[in-house]
Amino acid sequence: MSEKEIGKGRTLTFEILKYTPSDPESKPHFATYRLEETPGMTLFIALNMIREEQDPDLSFDFVCRAGICGSCGMMVNGKPLLACRTLTKDYPKGVIRLMPMPAFELLKDLSVNTGRWMNGMSKRVESWIHRSKERDISVLEERVEPEIAERTFELDRCIECGICVASCATALMRHDFVGAVGLNRIARFYVDPHDERSDEDFYELIGDDNGIFGCMALMACEDHCPKKLPLQEKIAFMRRKMASIK
Ligand code: SF4
Ligand code: FES
Repeated sequence: MSEKEIGKGRTLTFEILKYTPSDPESKPHFATYRLEETPGMTLFIALNMIREEQDPDLSFDFVCRAGICGSCGMMVNGKPLLACRTLTKDYPKGVIRLMPMPAFELLKDLSVNTGRWMNGMSKRVESWIHRSKERDISVLEERVEPEIAERTFELDRCIECGICVASCATALMRHDFVGAVGLNRIARFYVDPHDERSDEDFYELIGDDNGIFGCMALMACEDHCPKKLPLQEKIAFMRRKMASIK
């Protein structure tokens, strides 16, 4: 089918995993839905139409519809993607299989608890500025060179969608692995001059196989990250720093 024909009156087939772990009667199964494609249709639009017109029980998450909140990650034909940024026209066969992201607690159907996972990761890597002095709010903040601020802001673009975790073989095998999102977070504080932690302090947090030495450099995190964060570069940077500690 040509690019022009796709999006004009095609019937799409959605196969969606349905399962409610908290309901003892519920059994995991795929439910099939058919839907007329409309121009510019995203998976987010399609899922809302399915829920409104065919299955009010279908569960999935979204907030912003704009790739900002990180709520709508799901497995699309085997790849973790943001549903609000994924166009149905990119699936020429018109068959789209949706599953919840692995590695996270499944709540219902496509809805997973990334919040609990991210909270655990944030505590594990102590995701806050560590300073010895109390901050004096009566004086002006210290000046930060623009290029240093840029380095921190770049890594702060993470939206905690969990896609790097769902695409990571280590995270699927090792449930305590902090994932690319956690290692990126550590790199963010490492380059921030406000944080007074030493290399040894960071080593205490991530110097093991559930941290920086667990990454097998398979690159799937960076391939799938919707914010195009330089994850492998930052992981390699932190690994070099941690490996050089005597
Ligand atoms: S690093 Fe990228 S893929 Fe991972 S949680 Fe952040 S934005 Fe999502
Ligand atoms: S709904 Fe917010 S990122 Fe998709």
